[in-house]
Amino acid sequence: MTDVLSEFTFPRTGLTVRNRTVLAALTNKQSHEDGALSDDEHHWLTLRSKGGFGIVTTAAANVTEHGRGWEGELGVWSDHHLPGLTRLASELSAHGAVSLAQLFHGGMRAPFELTGVQPVSASENTDSSMKGVTSRELSNSEIESIIISFGDAAVRCEAAGFSGVELHGAHSYLISQFLGSQTNRRKDKWGGDLSGRSMLLKHIIENVRARTSEEFVVGVRLSPAIRDLGIELNETLRVAQWCSEWGLDFIHVSCWDVYQTKTDKNGQETSLTKWFSKHLNSQIPIITTGKIWDSNDVNFAMEEGADLVGVGRAGIAHYDWPRQLEDENSSPKKPPFSIEHLKQAGLSDTFVTYMSRWDGFVLP
Ligand SMILES: Cc1cc2nc3c(=O)[nH]c(=O)nc-3n(C[C@H](O)[C@H](O)[C@H](O)COP(=O)(O)O)c2cc1C
Repeated sequence: MTDVLSEFTFPRTGLTVRNRTVLAALTNKQSHEDGALSDDEHHWLTLRSKGGFGIVTTAAANVTEHGRGWEGELGVWSDHHLPGLTRLASELSAHGAVSLAQLFHGGMRAPFELTGVQPVSASENTDSSMKGVTSRELSNSEIESIIISFGDAAVRCEAAGFSGVELHGAHSYLISQFLGSQTNRRKDKWGGDLSGRSMLLKHIIENVRARTSEEFVVGVRLSPAIRDLGIELNETLRVAQWCSEWGLDFIHVSCWDVYQTKTDKNGQETSLTKWFSKHLNSQIPIITTGKIWDSNDVNFAMEEGADLVGVGRAGIAHYDWPRQLEDENSSPKKPPFSIEHLKQAGLSDTFVTYMSRWDGFVLP
């Protein structure tokens, strides 16, 4: 089995990562009202590069002003974001990490109270979190414009010095709303069968690829299945396969729990990571994330076929989580954490307050 602390090289670009640990995208609510990076957010992310992470990913960052999903969200929709992004990319790289910006659009989950406009999606949808506000169906030209916004944002990230971008195709945001048969009931080229429902993602990838350099890393994050949207595991596997054919550099599987299994056709309980690694057969690198905390979890994820392992909460609690893995027997402390511990780990009051909404993470 490959050692998680060994180097990894992206096959297409030749970019080498110092080890196989990934700080997954983590919304932290610390950005300024206009989406500009704050000093607090800069500090929390650069500390993870100092702490030894191979890849550091930004929080979900919006490619359009009206696609914002929550307050304190990072923006990549305008050049006024460039100074903060440039300072961040430069410092992440100075401390040895490969830097990724996660690009997204909230779609039906961009609240009216925040954006002042009706949310948009593949079709008219009512998301349970939207207090009864229904999204409206995007027109063809609006879809084209969102695709260009993803491309603009990627160009901006490359200009800022990021190593690459992760397209957020998971967790029920716009790209997954297009992938889902429940949320995408369009009859035009952007809907219909799975191939039509993947058109938005395909065009975003093409736009980003055409406008960034050969060296720029481009990957996608996918949820294995999202029942409410009408996305099944076998469909996501096909989308992942297409993504590898469309020239992406990685697939990041957002499992939430890497130990979760789904029975295969021979009645064998198979982990979500393994479903992807078997299906993709080493054609494209896989990152997997979800409830990875110690060396046993890391080894399990890699045995199931992951090339890199992502963490969310372990990386929030332990800025130097990769270094702690150097001792195979170490067991990084698990939640709940005191406010003092989290502050020492580089979280601001705003981020700590946000984390107290995550069950059992912060000591009352
Ligand atoms: C506070 C918090 C914020 C998150 N924000 C994002 C995000 O911006 N984008 C994303 O794709 N996933 C986000 N996630 C999901 C994480 O990236 C990760 O997949 C999840 O926490 C499971 O991994 P873990 O068990 O190691 O925490 C978030 C999770 C948490 C706990």
